[in-house]
Amino acid sequence: MPELACIITEEEINARVADLARLIDRDYAGKDVVLVGVLKGAFVFMADLMRRLTVPCQVDFVRVASYGSETVSSGKVRLLMDVGLNLEGRDVILVEDIVDSGLTLKFLKEHMQAKRPRSVSICAMIDKPERREVELPIEYICTRVPEGFLVGYGLDCNEEYRSLPGIYEIKP
Ligand code: IMP
Ligand code: MG
Repeated sequence: MPELACIITEEEINARVADLARLIDRDYAGKDVVLVGVLKGAFVFMADLMRRLTVPCQVDFVRVASYGSETVSSGKVRLLMDVGLNLEGRDVILVEDIVDSGLTLKFLKEHMQAKRPRSVSICAMIDKPERREVELPIEYICTRVPEGFLVGYGLDCNEEYRSLPGIYEIKP
């Protein structure tokens, strides 16, 4: 069994998600918000964030695959499932679990922009800058973790650990 070290507790996550929701409420007052979650990792975060927002919003999801091993992304991103809503003229917030190399979100941001929304911003639970390969503005971040492979709160390692309420670093 690998060892898990708690990095962010459930209480800390709750407080940060609430702070983030307040920022988004302020920035998106009067706008036409669509939250687009990146499956599967972002679903827990997005569900919590959405329930903290007071601006009206709609939700949709995309699913991507990146070729590579479980813990290292290869840089090639492929769309497995696209949104169903028409995003033209809408204010899209892409909701992602972790920004690591940044390649997934760079791909998804360009993919969303091709649908001619009014705006696209990025909201990530965790910014992990250690392996960043592309320049990518991230408008909303819950927290920054310098390194390590993280699980829990929707994040998996080989599909395990998504149900843990906090975020843990997994030690091999
Ligand atoms: P990127 O394209 O390298 O930014 O990779 C982002 C994706 O890799 C995220 O959506 C996660 O699914 C996955 N990922 C990166 N780091 C971790 C981690 O520490 N734990 C779990 N998944 C991760
Ligand atoms: Mg992901």
